[in-house]
Amino acid sequence: MREALNLDQLRSLYAGIAKRYDLRHTLLTARADQRGRKLLVEKTVREGDRVLDCGAGTGTTGLLAAAKAGPKGRVTLFDLSDAMLAVARQKVTQAGLQDWFEFQSGDMVQLPFNSGEFDVVLSTYSICPLYNPEKGALELYRVTRPGGTLGVAHSTNPENPVARWLADRVEDFAWHFPGLSMGCRSVDILPVLSRAGAEVLFARQIGIPLWPFLVFVVQKPAS
Ligand SMILES: C[S@@+](CC[C@H](N)C(=O)[O-])C[C@H]1O[C@@H](n2cnc3c(N)ncnc32)[C@H](O)[C@@H]1O
Repeated sequence: MREALNLDQLRSLYAGIAKRYDLRHTLLTARADQRGRKLLVEKTVREGDRVLDCGAGTGTTGLLAAAKAGPKGRVTLFDLSDAMLAVARQKVTQAGLQDWFEFQSGDMVQLPFNSGEFDVVLSTYSICPLYNPEKGALELYRVTRPGGTLGVAHSTNPENPVARWLADRVEDFAWHFPGLSMGCRSVDILPVLSRAGAEVLFARQIGIPLWPFLVFVVQKPAS
């Protein structure tokens, strides 16, 4: 796994692209990003849920979650980048949903929330830039309530060895251009969640062959 950009580099990178992020990410992923977000929200969020969208960026996943959780639900958007959260805030205001949302900035490898605080925790494409993806994944799991669900989409390696080699070359190339890679690289965090006791409810690989995403939902056993 490539060494991550540090937090200052990531803040500065996302400050530079925040306003163009939605279009850029959609084009680069050939719209697979939106498929992953919809799949996760469909499989996790129910009416009235308290949802954490972690590494929320411009809030696209959080807005989908709010539509499903409805007026009795609450969605917290958490991100390292104030610039990305500012775009999210604009989108939430335009949708007239300010009362359904909370915004908080910080580092998702050390979340400022209590254990078990959320019914549903979502992370779409936000584990990939972390300096410690496994610790970040365990933090997401910690703040999920017993019986609650955690839904994650992240860059992954193709299973076919030839596609894997080619995908690695693509990632190598993109890594030289932070505006292109957005600091994201393939990660592998399902094993650490399974070791922590998470039960896999759903897992599927989606996306273009040389830039695939793993989309999965795990449940924290009710204690
Ligand atoms: C590729 S974007 C994904 C944004 C959004 N979840 C989506 O579906 O488009 C990655 C996001 O992770 C955030 N991020 C990176 N490192 C982070 C960290 N340590 N803590 C919190 N957020 C982080 C970035 O600021 C950025 O908004």
